[in-house]
Amino acid sequence: MAHLLWLLYFALIVVAFSNVSANLVIYTVTFVSCVVNSTCPQGNPSSYSATFALNGTLSPNITLNVGDQLRFNLATTVTIHPLTICQNSAVPNFCKGAATSDELNTPITNAGDTTSVIFNTSGTYYYGCHNHPGMGAMINVIQTVTTTASTSTASVTSSIAIGLFLFTVIVSLFTIIFT
Ligand SMILES: *[C@@H]1O[C@H](CO)[C@@H](O)[C@H](O)[C@H]1NC(C)=O
Ligand SMILES: *[C@@H]1O[C@H](CO)[C@@H](O)[C@H](O)[C@H]1NC(C)=O
Ligand SMILES: *[C@@H]1O[C@H](CO)[C@@H](O)[C@H](O)[C@H]1NC(C)=O
Ligand SMILES: *[C@@H]1O[C@H](CO)[C@@H](O)[C@H](O)[C@H]1NC(C)=O
Ligand SMILES: *[C@@H]1O[C@H](CO)[C@@H](O)[C@H](O)[C@H]1NC(C)=O
Repeated sequence: MAHLLWLLYFALIVVAFSNVSANLVIYTVTFVSCVVNSTCPQGNPSSYSATFALNGTLSPNITLNVGDQLRFNLATTVTIHPLTICQNSAVPNFCKGAATSDELNTPITNAGDTTSVIFNTSGTYYYGCHNHPGMGAMINVIQTVTTTASTSTASVTSSIAIGLFLFTVIVSLFTIIFT
């Protein structure tokens, strides 16, 4: 029983101090051929048997945490396929015809161009070609369970207090139940 209690206590400490910090997520973006109805993903129109690939994967969905910065390094010149990151689009549009107010970046077209967006709000976003549907995918931004525990001494102290409080409650419960 004592072991179990220590395990619980340890778990509480870990939870109290877990702090998912913002990441910089970088992809090298190429524009590559795909086979319509076979490897072209997500509604790629048959008139365009090509799509964006992120680090070599054909238009994958991306999951990010709130606060993460997404950076696309464009490695292929895509004159008529401006690479756009947007909101309020839909499958399979993926930013096709996105309004300027929904675009989170300035669309890029030249090999060597870089663009990045910091996602401050959870939700569904998209990346893809500004001109054609099906050349992109979804960016799911999720709110991870974070505490601001280690951002200031005061909150660290309060986290310890909460941890100790929960520990005490649990110990009390076990004492009541098992004695
Ligand atoms: C916790 O998160 C904050 C804000 O995201 C960050 O500034 C800090 O460096 C992180 N601390 C640790 C220990 O990861
Ligand atoms: C994509 O590849 C680059 C270069 O190899 C690497 O630095 C980056 O971490 C990769 N991105 C992801 C999300 O794995
Ligand atoms: C792909 O599938 C759609 C729907 O089944 C069909 O209309 C279209 O002709 C197909 N395209 C090719 C290139 O096979
Ligand atoms: C991306 O997510 C959408 C919606 O959940 C799904 O329909 C689609 O199949 C996913 N695409 C890939 C490549 O996983
Ligand atoms: C997120 O916040 C940062 C810092 O305030 C800001 O520079 C950035 O434009 C915001 N991102 C979006 C998509 O609005």
